[in-house]
Amino acid sequence: MASAGGRAATGPGARIMSVGAYRPSRVVHNDELCERLDSSDDWIRRRSGIVSRRWAGDEETVIAMAAAAAGKALAHAGVTPAEVDVVLLASMSYLQQSPAAAPQVAAAVGARAAAAFDIHAACAGFCYGLAVADGLVRAGTARHVLVVGAERMTDIVDPDDRGTAFLFADGAGAVLVGPSETPGILSVSWGSDGDQHGLISHQAPWTSTRGAAAEWPYMRMSGSEVFRWAIKEVPRTARRALWAAGVRPEDLSAFIPHQANARITEAVVKALGLPADVVVADDIETAGNTSAASVPLAMEALSAQGRLMPGGLALLAGFGAGLTHAALVVTLP
Ligand code: UT7
Repeated sequence: MASAGGRAATGPGARIMSVGAYRPSRVVHNDELCERLDSSDDWIRRRSGIVSRRWAGDEETVIAMAAAAAGKALAHAGVTPAEVDVVLLASMSYLQQSPAAAPQVAAAVGARAAAAFDIHAACAGFCYGLAVADGLVRAGTARHVLVVGAERMTDIVDPDDRGTAFLFADGAGAVLVGPSETPGILSVSWGSDGDQHGLISHQAPWTSTRGAAAEWPYMRMSGSEVFRWAIKEVPRTARRALWAAGVRPEDLSAFIPHQANARITEAVVKALGLPADVVVADDIETAGNTSAASVPLAMEALSAQGRLMPGGLALLAGFGAGLTHAALVVTLP
C-alpha cells in the first residue's frame, strides 16, 4: 500500500479564510426513499445516522452548486473574484469527460483569470484539494485558491441499490485558501490503496454505454469492507497528521471527518481518544454522504450553528473510492 507519512508545513503559511455551502432545495426523508427502496427509516437511522438528505433538481448541476458555494466563500472572505489565482474542483459525479468543470466554475464566480482544474479523488477529493492549495500558496505559485467539493451522487447511484441509495446525496461546499504569516494548514497525511479499487467502483466503464443500449454503469460499493477499511485507515492517517503538526487530540477544538456514516465517525473518535469537548461534525444526519462535498458542508454547518471556534485547531479527514484518504490539521476560519 502506498501511503505517505505526515508532512508539516514550513515557512510562510496558508490558511482557510472562509467557507461557503450550497444545499439543494429538495429535502428527502428516509420514508420517501423507502417508498421505492426495500429498507426502513429505522434501519437507515441505526446503520448510518441519516435522517434526511438533499437531492439536486435539474438546474442544480455540479457546476451551478459549486459556483454558488464558491461565491459564498469569496463573499465571506471579502476577497474579489479577480484576486483568485486557482480554482480546484473535487467531484466524482461530474459526468462530462472534457472539458473539466473547474474552468466553468471559475467563470461563473467571475474568477476569469484563474487557473482551474478538477481533482478526482472521490470522497477524499476535497482534502486532497486542500493539500494542493496549501502547497501552491506556500510556494508562492498562487495567493488565493478556491477549493470546492461538489456532487450530484444521485446521478451515479442506483435508486434500487440497498447498499448505496439511502447513503449518498447531493450538495457543494467550498473554502478559500490564502496566505498567512503563520501556517494555518499545519500538516497533511495522505495516501491511496489502488489494490482495493474494486470496493467502490462503477460496475462498468463509460465506454460500455457506447453503441448498443447498455445498462447505465452505476457506482457499486462493498459497504462492510469499506467500513472495516475506514475504521482502520482513518485513525492511522489522522494520527500521522496530528503527529506531523505536533498537535495532541486534547489540543483540537473540532473534528470534521468525511460524513460517510455516523458509526464510522464514532469509531474514529474512539480510536483517536478525542476528548468529549472536541466538537464532532454530524452533518450526515441531514445531508447524507455527499462525497467530496461533505467536509466543507460539515464545516459550514458547524460554523452556521455557532459551534466552531474561529482560530481553533481542527482535524479534517477524507476517505473513499480509489481507495484514497487524507487528513489535515488546520486552524478554523
Ligand atoms: O463515502 C466513502 C466511503 N464509504 C463509506 O465509508 C461507507 C462504508 N459502509 C457503510 O457505511 C455501511 O457498510 C452501510 C451503511 C453502507 C451498510 O451498513 P452495514 O451495517 O455494513 O450493512 P450490511 O451491508 O453489513 O448489511 C447488514 C444487514 C444485512 O442483513 P442480514 O444479512 O444481516 O440479515 C443486509 O441485508 O442489513 C441488511 N441491509 C439492509 N436492510 C435494510 C443492507 N442494506 C439494507 C438496507 N435496508 N438499505
